[in-house]
Amino acid sequence: MKILVTGAAGFIGSNFMYYELENHPEDEYVALDLLTYAGNLKNLDGLKDKKNFKFVKMDIRDRENIFKLFEEEKFDLVVNFAAESHVDRSIEDPELFLRTNIIGTSVLMDACLKYGVNRYHQVSTDEVYGDLPLDRTDLFFTENTPLHTSSPYSSSKASADLLVNAYHRTFGLATTISRCSNNYGPYQFPEKLIPLMINNARHDKSLPVYGEGLNVRDWLHVYDHCSGIDLVMRKGKIGEVYNIGGHNERQNIDVVKTILKSLDKPESLITYVTDRKGHDLRYAIDPTKIETELGWKPKYNFESGIKETIKWYIDNQEWMDDVTSGEYQKYYDNMYSNR
Ligand code: NAD
Ligand code: TYD
Repeated sequence: MKILVTGAAGFIGSNFMYYELENHPEDEYVALDLLTYAGNLKNLDGLKDKKNFKFVKMDIRDRENIFKLFEEEKFDLVVNFAAESHVDRSIEDPELFLRTNIIGTSVLMDACLKYGVNRYHQVSTDEVYGDLPLDRTDLFFTENTPLHTSSPYSSSKASADLLVNAYHRTFGLATTISRCSNNYGPYQFPEKLIPLMINNARHDKSLPVYGEGLNVRDWLHVYDHCSGIDLVMRKGKIGEVYNIGGHNERQNIDVVKTILKSLDKPESLITYVTDRKGHDLRYAIDPTKIETELGWKPKYNFESGIKETIKWYIDNQEWMDDVTSGEYQKYYDNMYSNR
């Protein structure tokens, strides 16, 4: 099969490329990315000599060039990771999220229809379900939970999901959607909670916890997300949605304290800052469908996964220094200086 992976130089996309080349070396891959602030070609360094791997710098909103690429390459499967992915940035600039996450998705699906691509997979998020109350730990997101978004980011992802379902129903495009909880692991851009806190702690900088740090996220190692996507895009039922999550709910403050402890840094580095606008309280996934229908099982538990992840960032400080130079400093000052 020839597979197009969009957003392949970002956090999950690059981990997915390593997963695929390791587990399906018989397939051929075109990795596409616009290389925005979040995309880093160095993430794919370990793959550049593979004969069945090629990188293309392109914008998924660029209909003309996307169509040209589809005409030339004749893909069998498209998996779309490309997105603006950070909630805080979506509060600053919603329109960019609508253009990339909604229009970009429609361009890719139009190209699938025009050039006869057999299968399209959309990488989505549990944030499309909105949030759950903190005091109802019996409640989980299932695939039937209504979409009920809070941020421009989650609204743009939900819109894209609706469009994917519309292309399936209206045009007969063979689609699947996966909705995953918060990921952690190597190559995550340090605007997200875990790498940001590791980076600040290693510089003895304060750790900005939003509100009281009581919000709950359901953490999944990126490797387990990739194995779930791989199963859904190859074996999932056409037209269906699959939730991916491993029952690893943690309060933000506990995650931050775990990081400090494992780096042997004091809790006095924690600073409570103004809460995020519209801050979702709790995410929690019920992964029964993917487990029972497709036999998916996560490999990592949070305790060992977070230790390994912290070690990766400490062992790869050059990567961290590289991605946090230049533009990142401006972003950080803008987001946190008066908070
Ligand atoms: P990321 O921000 O690290 O990577 C996104 C990638 O998309 C970047 O490499 C960027 O350069 C690329 N991109 C952005 N705009 C583009 C465009 N117009 N054309 C081509 N490429 C473009 O994000 P991530 O965390 O790797 O997330 C990947 C996908 O997974 C997203 O769709 C996100 O919504 C979804 N997701 C993420 C999480 C999470 O915890 N990070 C959880 C569930 C779902
Ligand atoms: P984030 O990694 O941005 O993921 P998401 O908002 O998509 O879940 O944030 C995870 C949680 O951590 C979220 O509740 C917000 C909180 N948070 C902080 O407390 N401080 C920070 O500096 C960041 C980036 C996030």
